[in-house]
Amino acid sequence: MRHSAQDSSLSSGQAIRVLVTGAGGFAGAGIALALNRAGFSVFSHVGRGGESGGADLTSEADVARLLKGASPDVIVHTAAISSSDACERERDEAFRVNVGATMHLVQQASHRSAGLQTHRPPYFIHLSTDLVFDGGVAPRGGFTERDEVCPRSVYGLSKLESEQIVLGSSLERSVLRLSLLYGRSPSARQGFLGWMAGGIRAGGPVRLFVDEWRTPLLLSDLSEVVRRLVVAWGEGRLTADSELLHVSGSERVSRHDFGVRYCEHFGLSPDAIVGVRQADVASVAPRSPDVSLSNEKLQRVLGYCPATVEEGLKLLREDFGA
Ligand SMILES: NC(=O)c1ccc[n+]([C@@H]2O[C@H](COP(=O)([O-])OP(=O)(O)OC[C@H]3O[C@@H](n4cnc5c(N)ncnc54)[C@H](OP(=O)(O)O)[C@@H]3O)[C@@H](O)[C@H]2O)c1
Repeated sequence: MRHSAQDSSLSSGQAIRVLVTGAGGFAGAGIALALNRAGFSVFSHVGRGGESGGADLTSEADVARLLKGASPDVIVHTAAISSSDACERERDEAFRVNVGATMHLVQQASHRSAGLQTHRPPYFIHLSTDLVFDGGVAPRGGFTERDEVCPRSVYGLSKLESEQIVLGSSLERSVLRLSLLYGRSPSARQGFLGWMAGGIRAGGPVRLFVDEWRTPLLLSDLSEVVRRLVVAWGEGRLTADSELLHVSGSERVSRHDFGVRYCEHFGLSPDAIVGVRQADVASVAPRSPDVSLSNEKLQRVLGYCPATVEEGLKLLREDFGA
């Protein structure tokens, strides 16, 4: 990753203060670490836990306390109920967290800056999902930012509503629609890859869909996209083009093929993997067959191209020192 020391500072020379919500989670922990290493002043909100930095974002009082303590220039909002099944089971809670918490953050961030003439309002980076699309059939090359959204699940619907809150605000903002994430995170939560790799190493069986297509995104690529956006914001270079971006890996693959290729890269036998079809597996949340995203706009706006599966798994293997 290339960046200069100046990248992480405002024109005043002060380090840009970044609040990362959900920094106890898979994506948040990785982003917070990467921004910290890049020289930003990072305030990690770890989740609802009791330790310092914990706050329940569905509570307006907790959000007020958090924003007062962190006094951020930039908010990277990753906190969410990120499991589709959990959202389907607990619909009210899904909306309370994914929509309600986003609303509290956006409203209070807008408010805080309203009275401060000298203070630039915080820049709000919001993580959303490919599951805002129906995914019956993805267009060739993947869904673009211009394609019509139509979520199938409570999770997708709640994330879409959260997008609308952010995009409807007066804050400078970027909504990042992410594909399935994989990679190395300092969090105890290891996402899809952790579940899959753990199962394979334990001998399986690990059931992976042969008819569910994604454009998997390496966590370090997401962190780099966030870093570039924060730098561009600090330098006053953000344009309306960065309000809505699809942040995906550069290759479309089925979950099953991803698993097999993971085994190839890590010298494991793929015998533990069992290919299954969506129709053969009962699931709580409705599943979307193909929500592949196109990252063409991202490449144009930020000049950055996330890894293919091949490149990503190679980087991951090096990262793990394997
Ligand atoms: N992982 C993926 O493949 C993927 C793909 C597309 C989009 N995304 C999006 O990326 C973001 C991060 O996902 P992730 O996989 O990193 O999620 P994650 O590992 O499940 O972490 C979620 C974080 O949110 C926090 N949180 C949940 N409810 C909260 C509340 N009421 N108050 C405060 N904190 C709360 C959790 O803290 P607790 O410890 O308190 O629960 C945790 O730190 C989400 O917005 C998700 O929709 C993820």
